[in-house]
Amino acid sequence: MRTPIMAGNWKMNKTNEEACELASAVKEASGAVTGTEIVLCPPATALSTVVGCVEGSNIEVGAQNMYWEDSGAFTGEISADMIKSTGAQWVILGHSERRGRFGVIEEGFTEELQKVFGDTDASVNTKLKKALAAGLKPIACCGELLSEREAGNTDEVVAGQVKAMFEGLGDCSSAGFVIAYEPVWAIGTGEVCDGDEADRVCGVIRSVVAEVAGEEAAQAIRILYGGSVKPDNVEGLMAKENIDGGLVGGASMKADSFAALIDAAAASA
Ligand code: 13P
Repeated sequence: MRTPIMAGNWKMNKTNEEACELASAVKEASGAVTGTEIVLCPPATALSTVVGCVEGSNIEVGAQNMYWEDSGAFTGEISADMIKSTGAQWVILGHSERRGRFGVIEEGFTEELQKVFGDTDASVNTKLKKALAAGLKPIACCGELLSEREAGNTDEVVAGQVKAMFEGLGDCSSAGFVIAYEPVWAIGTGEVCDGDEADRVCGVIRSVVAEVAGEEAAQAIRILYGGSVKPDNVEGLMAKENIDGGLVGGASMKADSFAALIDAAAASA
């Protein structure tokens, strides 16, 4: 039986003061909930603050990205040890907003500019190896673009991303390894993926993990769904066999809606 996880990805939102206010409200509402793990992922600037604000509760903290080197001339990057030194235990890796998989080219932005963060299957794999070696718990993201889904390539795209994550990874049967399935077209759009379909793709992911890392790893690894998770659709998603929790943007940034998501995850355990 896998323990569910409800993780909030605050993306590039919240100053330190705002982060502490939200983290404290989440702690007040949900800090004593058991039956699910709870993870808050504020911007790197607020990691230490949020760790302090949730102290003494069941809430853990994660970063939204990291670089694989220990230190050096990598302006703007942060290392696994830097994340750990804040007291955070988790790190999101390969989010579609970092892979440049926006799927929409906004007016005034070139396609190249939109890919400016530049995460690839290979860099996500390298970051994963480093995170695991450093003892951070990764939430590694995958998901297809709308154009890929419409072309009937969802399974192939997602399976390819997941296989690339495991390249040369060695033993990773730990329950600390989490994969998030986030269809790009469902992120921030209000258009949630149908529960049966999300469950089906998460099942495809689990079978890929079984193929590349063995059945034990496939059974231990938690697979989260992300993309417009809200209090009114969370129950249906959490009830699915292959969905072990959520990675949530918008609805994680209000304590009351995130509390409803946490309660649903705990109830699904
Ligand atoms: P939304 O919940 O705002 O759709 O964002 C999902 C997401 O990208 C979480 O990482």
